[in-house]
Amino acid sequence: MSGDTDGAVDAAAEDPALGRGFGHGKVILIGEHAVVHGHAALAAGISTGIAVEARAGRRSGEARLRVPAWNLEASAGDGTPVGRALEAIVRRIEAPGLDFVADARIPSRAGLGSSAAMSVAIARAAAAAVGRAEATDAIDAAVMAAEEVFHGSPSGIDAAAAKSGVTGRFTRASGWQPVPVLQKITLCVGLSGRPRDTAAQVAAVGRLRDRLPAAGEVLALLGRLADDGGAALAKGDVDGLGRIMDAAHGLLAALRLSSPELETLVHGARAAGAVGAKLTGAGGGGAVIALAPGHTRDVLARWRAAGFEGFLADIVATPAGGPTAAIGGAPR
Ligand code: MEV
Repeated sequence: MSGDTDGAVDAAAEDPALGRGFGHGKVILIGEHAVVHGHAALAAGISTGIAVEARAGRRSGEARLRVPAWNLEASAGDGTPVGRALEAIVRRIEAPGLDFVADARIPSRAGLGSSAAMSVAIARAAAAAVGRAEATDAIDAAVMAAEEVFHGSPSGIDAAAAKSGVTGRFTRASGWQPVPVLQKITLCVGLSGRPRDTAAQVAAVGRLRDRLPAAGEVLALLGRLADDGGAALAKGDVDGLGRIMDAAHGLLAALRLSSPELETLVHGARAAGAVGAKLTGAGGGGAVIALAPGHTRDVLARWRAAGFEGFLADIVATPAGGPTAAIGGAPR
């Protein structure tokens, strides 16, 4: 992160944008961690995310990024994770020397796929700026390279959901396949206030699996629940999905991925009328999702009273299954 605020970015902000990109925030409905070990996971891109504009850079050859909502500035090659990720993206897109400004509408490090959403938005904006908006392979490669900077060896589910914006089933072997969602689902998203560290949580689960063979069976069961969750979404069976979410949370807690804050959020949601609640993403910190038809305001109020922020996120209905992950465009 650079502390350089010499006004160049503000001046650049008045130039016309050469390219724009958007990346969706995501929630993993069922199957986080299982997906790292080859099992299925069910995830949804949410409408909220990160929009990026690319403008001609004021410093020749040096890509720069500003994210006012996160009070963050970085430049390619400054050695920070964000700077290294930026460098990886612009190198693969062959788009040096751009200034990027991001409008981030999701919190960072909260389990909502902020790094993937940012990488997708930057890669799309960079590609559009140099006339390569259709270069989907290069955009994909750029996003994965950036995700590897942040998370080591991610499964790729966050990037797929950030690109797609709808609900999909993901495995390492088959990638992202859109799944039917009979009706719109509104989720309550609760923020634990503790940043999560995906790479550390993934490594901890790997160590547990090495020591405790039953942990491998827990991961396989989580993958099975992901497919059960997909069947519930296809039928519009919200109560069924809630029960599956509760079971998944118990299994994730068995893998030591929960925390006192996450438990408070999960139990508070259930007490306020949720039919199901679970941690989402890597765990340890980050966020919780709760399914509470008719009680969404009660859940948010309960969380607020306990000192936690929350918001509502919609999973869009795609009764016939959504389009395959569109990666060239910049939906808003
Ligand atoms: C993080 O959003 C999801 C994990 O399964 C990691 C991954 O799939 O790369 C914990």
